[in-house]
Amino acid sequence: WLEPWPGPPEPAGLNLSAKTELVAWVVSNWREDSARVRYYRQLRAHLPVHVFGRSHQQLPREAMAGRLAQYKFYLAFENSQHRDYITEKLWNNALRAWAVPVVLGPSRQNYERFLPPDAFIHVEDFPSPQALARHLLELDRDHTRYLGYFRWRETLRPVSGSWALSFCKACWRLQQDSRYQTVPSIASWFT
Ligand SMILES: *[C@@H]1O[C@H](CO)[C@@H](O)[C@H](O)[C@H]1NC(C)=O
Repeated sequence: WLEPWPGPPEPAGLNLSAKTELVAWVVSNWREDSARVRYYRQLRAHLPVHVFGRSHQQLPREAMAGRLAQYKFYLAFENSQHRDYITEKLWNNALRAWAVPVVLGPSRQNYERFLPPDAFIHVEDFPSPQALARHLLELDRDHTRYLGYFRWRETLRPVSGSWALSFCKACWRLQQDSRYQTVPSIASWFT
């Protein structure tokens, strides 16, 4: 999620001179007939896209943020389209690496529940993959416009959760519920 950040943007965030590559995508669940693979195939006819992941170029988890920081754009393509189904592809892969997310998933309106409108590019902003490719190539040449996609970071910053925090929230929610009970030993409770 995003939390208020009293600008200027976090230091050691954006390093434009380190961004020597254009578009990256990390994908493990490759399905030829999926909307995202079909879109990717049309997109890469018009500009280079580097694909990482299972059965592509390997990218160890530890090296991921550093490697992706070399790219200007990241394809945060969800494997299925459902309301509010916006995953770590956007948060961990794109935003953590300061790569502008190009999203395919629920509608733009749905993404805007979680992110400022100028923090991402939605594939549906364009009539075709070719038109999207043209836009990305223009931004590659126009630094001022490209930097516009980071202006939101003057007032907000992404924060990532953790399993521990999720358990705390689940625990807190259970305690609000009158059916809450403590089981000291799940083994003896179960038998
Ligand atoms: C930005 O990236 C360039 C090229 O990789 C590097 O030489 C430079 O030290 C980086 N600057 C910062 C502030 O990290």
